[in-house]
Amino acid sequence: MTTATRPSPPKGGFNARRLIGVDDLSDAEIHFLLELAEHYAGYLRRAAPAPRRLAGKTQINLFYEDSTRTNMSFELAGKKLGADVLVVPVAASSVNKGEGYIDTSQTLAAMSADVMVLRANEKGLHETLDEVLNCIVINAGDGVREHPTQALLDAAAIASEFKKLEGLTIAICGDIRHSRVAGSDARLFTRLGAHVRFVGPAELMPPADEFSAVERCDRLSDGLDGADIVMGLRMQFERMGDGGAEAAKGYYDKFGLTHETIKLAKPAAKIMHPGPMNRGVEIDGALADDPERSIILRQVFYGVAMRMACLDALLTKGE
Ligand code: CP
Repeated sequence: MTTATRPSPPKGGFNARRLIGVDDLSDAEIHFLLELAEHYAGYLRRAAPAPRRLAGKTQINLFYEDSTRTNMSFELAGKKLGADVLVVPVAASSVNKGEGYIDTSQTLAAMSADVMVLRANEKGLHETLDEVLNCIVINAGDGVREHPTQALLDAAAIASEFKKLEGLTIAICGDIRHSRVAGSDARLFTRLGAHVRFVGPAELMPPADEFSAVERCDRLSDGLDGADIVMGLRMQFERMGDGGAEAAKGYYDKFGLTHETIKLAKPAAKIMHPGPMNRGVEIDGALADDPERSIILRQVFYGVAMRMACLDALLTKGE
C-alpha cells in the first residue's frame, strides 16, 4: 500500500471507544489498524509529514511505571498527527503529595483531554477510569495483564516480514507468567490465525487454566521446532518475590536465545523482543543485533506507526 491510499474503516465504522485489552477490538478493527499502521509507516519511511488529523486534540500520557518505548512512541505518534501532547512527569507531580490515581486522572482529564494513555499496575484502574473520565482510555501496560498496543505493533512488524500471521508458528520464550506482552500477543496472534507457543520452565508459565489455545513447551528444542518467529521476553525481576534469583539460575543455559539455539527454529526464522532486553540473561546480544535474524528495531519503528494508527482510529473513528 502507498501512502496515497488511506485504508477504509471497517464496514459499520471503527466503533471501539477504548483500548484496554485486545478484545476491545473487533477482527475488522484489528485488520484496519494493521493497514492504517502500514499507511503511516510509509510516511515515517519517507520522513514525510503525516496529515494533522489530530490537530486541536489533547493527548495526556500518564505513566506510573518506567517506560522508554511506549511513552516516547505515543508522544511522537500524537505529535506527528498534530495533537497537543502532555507527558506527565509523575515523579515530580502531586502524586508525591499523596494524590491518588483517580484524582490525578480526573484533574488531568479536566484539562480538556481527548485521550489518556495510561500505564499503571493497579487492578481494574483502566476500566474505572474509562467509566469516570470523559475521554478515551488507552492501556499502555497494566501489571501482568495486557499491553494491547505492543501486541498490535508486534503483529504489524511480523506482517511487514511475512505479509500475514495466519499459519505462522510463533514461539514466545521466557518469563511468560509475569509478562503482559505475552498475554496480549497470544490473544492477538491466535485471533490472527497464528499458532502460538509458550516456551519456558514451569515456574515461569501462567496458570494452567489460562490461554487454552496456546501450546506449552518446557524444552527449547520442542518450542522452537518449526517456528517462524522466536520472541524473547525479559525476566520481569521486579515482579518476582525473591528478586528473580531462582528464576534466573541456569535459565540461559537451558533457554537462552543464541545463534546456536535459533537453529532449532526454521532456517529463515526471525527473532523478536519487546524490550527492554537483558543481554546475556534471556538473549545473546550478537543475535539481537544480527540484521539477518533480528527484527527487534523494526518492532520499535512500528511502535510509532501503530500508535499513530490507534490514536487516529480511536479519536476520529477512522473517518
Ligand atoms: N515494550 C515496552 O513496553 O517497553 P517500555 O517499557 O520501554 O515502554
